[in-house]
Amino acid sequence: MRIFLSLIPKSSFFPSVFMALGLFFCISGQAALALAEPHQARQAELLHLLRQDCGACHGMTLKGGLGLPLLPESLDGKSDDSLAAIILDGVPNTPMPPWRSEISPEEAIWLVRRMKEGITK
Ligand code: HEC
Repeated sequence: MRIFLSLIPKSSFFPSVFMALGLFFCISGQAALALAEPHQARQAELLHLLRQDCGACHGMTLKGGLGLPLLPESLDGKSDDSLAAIILDGVPNTPMPPWRSEISPEEAIWLVRRMKEGITK
């Protein structure tokens, strides 16, 4: 053990490696969480955008207008990914515009799930 310890350089290389690893997992863990769900202030922003900007065509309560209804029963059976792709890229030759510059792919999925649950307020 003595010999082993004496092999460790004075700069305490090992503890710093463990600290770096710990930090890495901590940060990557948080990044994974952030990917899964937008933080709270951003969620409020997205819901506001949904009612105001999307609502301009889909109706403030998403019952439909120029755009299709975005209610749970209308989205039922359509995959989260295909709906998110429509939000991100729009539908060519229709008024549905692409939102990729304002909404990230993770946020689009989050919005689709909110719409499928039904936006109540
Ligand atoms: C300028 C009008 C307009 C705006 C603004 C708009 N949409 Fe649309 N959207 C449409 C139209 C029109 C369609 C139907 C396209 C078609 O004919 O396939 C559509 C289709 C969709 C669909 C597919 C629905 C389905 O059942 O297949 C989704 C999801 C959607 N919009 C979400 C959104 C979201 C979310 C926003 C805001 C970020 C938004 N839209 C903003 C006009 C709009």
